[in-house]
Amino acid sequence: MLIRTKAELKGIAEAGKAVAVTLRKMREFTKAGMSTKELDDYGSEILKSFGATSAPTKDYKFPGCTCISINHEVCHGIPKETTIIKDGDLVNIDVSAELNGFYGDNGGSFIVGEDSQGLQPLVTASQEILNLAIPQIKSGGKISDLGAFIENEAKKRGFTVIRNLCGHGVGKSLHEEPSEIPCFKDRNNKLKFRKNTVIALETFISTKAKKVELLEDKWTFVTKDNSFVAQHEHTLIVTDGKPVILTKENGI
Ligand code: CO
Ligand code: CO
Repeated sequence: MLIRTKAELKGIAEAGKAVAVTLRKMREFTKAGMSTKELDDYGSEILKSFGATSAPTKDYKFPGCTCISINHEVCHGIPKETTIIKDGDLVNIDVSAELNGFYGDNGGSFIVGEDSQGLQPLVTASQEILNLAIPQIKSGGKISDLGAFIENEAKKRGFTVIRNLCGHGVGKSLHEEPSEIPCFKDRNNKLKFRKNTVIALETFISTKAKKVELLEDKWTFVTKDNSFVAQHEHTLIVTDGKPVILTKENGI
């Protein structure tokens, strides 16, 4: 959406805060031995305390409140009582919700307990690249240039980017124009960032993979080559200068 009024700015900021606080608290709550359903129920209560409604549940009939993806699962993992988080797991939590007609979206990957799979460099790279990419966004800047920047930063660190997942516009619904903000230089994407547009910027950084595939459950995206992917995501407003980060309370 394009922010035109103070009331819209306030509305989108409140939605951003609700998802950001929920994501941070869920990350802090995560422990080995816990099921992803238990973690999701905890997140559901926090969203409720803000008066917010899960966007995946409401708009996509996703069987959960938040998306929780473990290890080779990349995103849209379904919270389950039978999925038990283990020490050393790579966990991604993605929280998106609607509050008073406005949508916020954010996510992040982290390692539970000891890094037995040696994935901390991947997680750090994803978070760092998101934070380096945000100040590159300016009204009038090309979306494909941002993609090139992210791809190059990943390459410098010895990682790849996932080409069939991307960031997107957000605001009055979860997915809006611009519909694709890729992590690579997409030569067909001629779009530029517009001032006062709300976008969800997300990294998809991998140890090796360039694409993800959908599982038979029709929700979960996985890598098929045993590689790992880390994602970090903020909702922000494009300006003439540095973007306004609406989800900064997530601590990413
Ligand atoms: Co998200
Ligand atoms: Co998103």
